[in-house]
Amino acid sequence: MTHDTVITGARVVTASGTISCDIGISSGKIASLGTDLTGTEVIDARGLIAMPGGIDSHVHISQPSGPGIEMADDFAAGTRSAACGGNTTVLPFCLPEEGHTLREAVAAYRAKADGNCLTDVSFHLIVKETDPVTLGQDLPALIQAGYTSFKVFMTYAGLALSDRQILDVMTVAKEQNAMVMVHAENEDAIEFLRDKAERAGETGPYHHATTRPVPVEREATHRAISLAEIAGVPLTIVHVSNGEAMEEIMRARQRGLTVFAETCPQYITLTADDLDRNGFDGAKYVCSPPPRTRDEWDNIWRGIEQGVFDLFSSDHCPFRFLDTAGKDAPGARKTFRNIPNGIPGVETRLPILFSEGVVKGRLSLERFAALTATNHARLYGLYPRKGAIMVGADADIALWDPTLSKPIKQADLHHGSDYTPWEGFEITGWPVRTILRGITTMLNGVPGKDAVGQHLSRTAPELLG
Ligand code: URP
Ligand code: ZN
Ligand code: ZN
Ligand code: ZN
Repeated sequence: MTHDTVITGARVVTASGTISCDIGISSGKIASLGTDLTGTEVIDARGLIAMPGGIDSHVHISQPSGPGIEMADDFAAGTRSAACGGNTTVLPFCLPEEGHTLREAVAAYRAKADGNCLTDVSFHLIVKETDPVTLGQDLPALIQAGYTSFKVFMTYAGLALSDRQILDVMTVAKEQNAMVMVHAENEDAIEFLRDKAERAGETGPYHHATTRPVPVEREATHRAISLAEIAGVPLTIVHVSNGEAMEEIMRARQRGLTVFAETCPQYITLTADDLDRNGFDGAKYVCSPPPRTRDEWDNIWRGIEQGVFDLFSSDHCPFRFLDTAGKDAPGARKTFRNIPNGIPGVETRLPILFSEGVVKGRLSLERFAALTATNHARLYGLYPRKGAIMVGADADIALWDPTLSKPIKQADLHHGSDYTPWEGFEITGWPVRTILRGITTMLNGVPGKDAVGQHLSRTAPELLG
């Protein structure tokens, strides 16, 4: 049998270990793994590593962010950047605009994404209202339609839910078999610290970090886990930034609870001191939870190596820096409170983990694949179609050159932001080709022209064994 495409000569990171073999692709699926395969198109991948295409299950694209504020990426830019960073699927969030229902929000996001994407896309929901229509009708209907995960917030005015509301939302997740993702930071404590800082004249970007200290996150992590225990649901804690929050997760697992955990590149590469860079430059690093300390990098690494973390995502949330619709929002120079939260990172997530993890000997290739693709697919209902190089799965593959060394440069990236928090960061190991369902979507840093990405409906989460 002649395949449409054969990839030859790569070390292939499969679901059951790394082997040297050919990958035969037909009709967008992986048709064979073997030797001496034939194909109409042959991709010579000698010296390269074939990884499952990255799945970034935590990105924000075109999300409403307050009056006058605009995210730097639409779906074309966000998914172009993702594809250039070795990704084949992204999971952005669907946040209803003020006065709109969750169903309307889903329709609006689908319309924005459809026909514009260079990766496959599937949406998580954000639940910010707990009225009877949302919890009794819209949310169950959307979960049944394949939107099988949603995020709740314990911080941000207008988004944060009370404990009672979180319990009510978790109850819907339990009835409908959906995954709850929690942003765990204590809003009241933050507000208290923010008021105090402002009264003391501590208003620069750095004070975004000092007003969201570790206990704010640790307490909310503990509370979120307790609420999930009370409601009887599994839970995913997203963007964990420090060792104390990690310990809450480990203790919960020791009690027999099902808690999954995600961390992000910013928590192993940036510190709060980055928010203190000269003048307003620190605003480039404002995200929540904030980057911590070098000691916390060690804690997070321990969690990555020892399996505390299931997911390594970007939390890509891009704003432009010198732009009044971005970080330089009205009032942002007067107080950090007005700086939009979030940093761009969908294109740099995988190279950072590969370079810092695989090349530096902290992570095996298999663990890299699990943290960046397989576990995302399993937890969010995309497995076995997505997340692993195996026969029958979509032919979503990133070819990596493990020896290619060059620094991260804004000029080389494809997002809509006008900066990267990692300017000059040295990387060894870059994806050189991204393949989505058999179609090349990036070659040597150049994105494909055709928006071949599709929307993915998802099944119920598979709980990792
Ligand atoms: O600062 C961040 N992380 N912004 C994105 C929204 C969120 O909380 O994930
Ligand atoms: Zn969050
Ligand atoms: Zn200060
Ligand atoms: Zn986020």
